Amino acid sequence: EKGGYDHFMIKEIHEQPEAIKNTLMELTDIEKIVNKMGNVKRICFVACGTSYHASLIGKYLFESLGGIPTDVILASEFKYSAGSLDKDTLVILISQSGETADTLKALRTAKNTSKTLAIVNVLGSTATREADYIIYTRAGPEIGVAATKTYISQLTCIYMLAGLLCKHGDLVDKLHEIPQIIQNMLDNEDYIKAIAQKYRDAQDFFFIGRGFSYPTALEGALKLKEITYIHGEGYAAGELKHGPLALIDDEVPVVAVTPPGESHDKTVSNVEEVRARGAHVIAVGAESDENLQSEAEDVIGVDDSIDEIMSPIPYVVPLQLLSYYMSVARGIDPDKPKNLAKCVTVE
Ligand code: M6R
Repeated sequence: EKGGYDHFMIKEIHEQPEAIKNTLMELTDIEKIVNKMGNVKRICFVACGTSYHASLIGKYLFESLGGIPTDVILASEFKYSAGSLDKDTLVILISQSGETADTLKALRTAKNTSKTLAIVNVLGSTATREADYIIYTRAGPEIGVAATKTYISQLTCIYMLAGLLCKHGDLVDKLHEIPQIIQNMLDNEDYIKAIAQKYRDAQDFFFIGRGFSYPTALEGALKLKEITYIHGEGYAAGELKHGPLALIDDEVPVVAVTPPGESHDKTVSNVEEVRARGAHVIAVGAESDENLQSEAEDVIGVDDSIDEIMSPIPYVVPLQLLSYYMSVARGIDPDKPKNLAKCVTVE
């Protein structure tokens, strides 16, 4: 049932090009929802864990492309601070399982004031029965506890939704190119496997990025913690000098997410800062980014055509692979990380 792979997680990482293609088939349903919903003045995302990171990318998208004010709230914090919900706010709940207790609780509260839209992977799950509108991510069943293909599919849905709501048809066109780009990275995963071997005994990691790459850094750090038990911190690169720089030395590898675009040069300056403190830097950036080649010890290249806005989808893949291969190198079963369950049904 693992289709020749050692673990479900690596199988599911490899299923990502297919998952995106399947998610793209949801476009017509998303169009219908957008037409029915009418004007959206404000958006509030609510989610946990990896689904929360997908939501953060949604905020950058809706605000930068559509000027739609967008909040992102952790479902477990929703009852303490839900912002100012009203009938013109669209509350978007993101949940792979559709059963996460905190997310369901927030959904029930949000329904009293606002329109609710759930982006869910599991057909017929509780969230799909309770939300006003439903988008299915269509990633197929995900068995590994670590969310991988469902995250990629959540992002694909958010990009389609943003393309429609913010009238940026080019976003949807660009999504069609991503499966092949990810496939090319998967075909060359041995390079990432070698980097994973090199750092398997590290005890702390930092992941840094700015703008669209900040949630990617958070997601990279979450994957690392979850399946390797190594402490990983995702940080907005510009925040490093406001505290965590004190922790950086040659024992702390730093993964820098540096796609081409507005944030690139500033993140590269942060790379210089951490290198000056002895850190080993692994940069994920455009293949022909010469700047990175000279600044970082290891560079994981992504197709040059990917700009900052589209980067969250393909750029997370090397981070998933890095954690997977480090987990295996440390003798851990990545499919069953200790203390964690696939679906969190208690608050
Ligand atoms: O099913 P959900 O998307 O609501 O789950 C939310 C989180 O529990 C989940 O994303 C968790 O963080 C993942 N296991 C991380 O890989």
